Amino acid sequence: MADTSPILTLERVSKTFVTKPVFGPARRVEALRRVSLTLQPGKALALVGESGSGKSTVGRLIVRHYAPTEGRILFEGQDIETNHSRALEKAYQRSVQMVFQDPFSALNPAHTIRHHLLRPLALHQPDRDPERALLDLLGDVELDPKSTPDKYPHELSGGQRQRVNFARALAVNARLIVADEPTSMLDVSIRKSVLGLMRRLKDERGLALLYITHDIATAQYLAEETAVMFRGQIVEQGPTARVVGAPQHAYTQLLRSAVPDPAIRLGGDGQSFAEQAAQVRKDAARDVTSMTMAGDGHFFALH
Ligand SMILES: Nc1ncnc2c1ncn2[C@@H]1O[C@H](COP(=O)(O)OP(=O)(O)O)[C@@H](O)[C@H]1O
Ligand SMILES: [Mg+2]
Repeated sequence: MADTSPILTLERVSKTFVTKPVFGPARRVEALRRVSLTLQPGKALALVGESGSGKSTVGRLIVRHYAPTEGRILFEGQDIETNHSRALEKAYQRSVQMVFQDPFSALNPAHTIRHHLLRPLALHQPDRDPERALLDLLGDVELDPKSTPDKYPHELSGGQRQRVNFARALAVNARLIVADEPTSMLDVSIRKSVLGLMRRLKDERGLALLYITHDIATAQYLAEETAVMFRGQIVEQGPTARVVGAPQHAYTQLLRSAVPDPAIRLGGDGQSFAEQAAQVRKDAARDVTSMTMAGDGHFFALH
């Protein structure tokens, strides 16, 4: 059996944002409520949910953009908030990288692709010939090693820019990549090839992937496991084939019936799709009281 010890674990992680508007009282947003997730080397976990469900907050907590309000994040079994050894700190920063929705956001328009990649290579792979390492890296992400290095970000397509972002994560020897809607700003025609790249990085290099998406259909292409989020809670989790193919939670079933076909019935009688959908959301927003097993490794929430 393959190594199944997790690289990263979230244990009942909650995140509450308190915002203070100029006028009026402070507002509290419970962005995450007791979220537990496990990421394995060589495996992808899809985190699926609509806008505002808390997906990016999970990603930002993992890359330590901010700290959990409650709960723990363990990296190879060690709590990343309380273990302040410099060695762990450095290993973590290197090992965990994020790729964002906007392929431009992390690239500097004034610098060539060579510049973007040589700097992390020099820092993290100092023993290698930099130009050789650069060529290998471009090959790894399926970019033309001849023409790409001297180009500027705006000279590349969105899909190529996203490949550069994955190359940067590889340059620092990342072992876990959090990809936050990495294809949603790309042309539909090239989305699949970027998903294919992620799948290859996972299978061939043993990377762990957290694939954040609002499109549950794409999870099947990439992710062994899928977790469905709504209003900051995981409502269903398990092998992707089961979660997508035989969803148990009413909210997952709602996500699956993405086209609001009035003929589709979610289970209720005499109600329109919109009425049923509103009821499902209302029910799914209540606190999760327990997770019930629906099959091997497949769980759904009771509220
Ligand atoms: N820095 C922040 N300050 C205040 N509220 C935030 C912040 N980040 C996210 N939120 C709120 O937390 C909730 C979840 O947001 P987010 O994680 O971005 O969801 P998603 O990525 O699924 O669209 C939303 O209600 C959002 O407005
Ligand atoms: Mg988001």
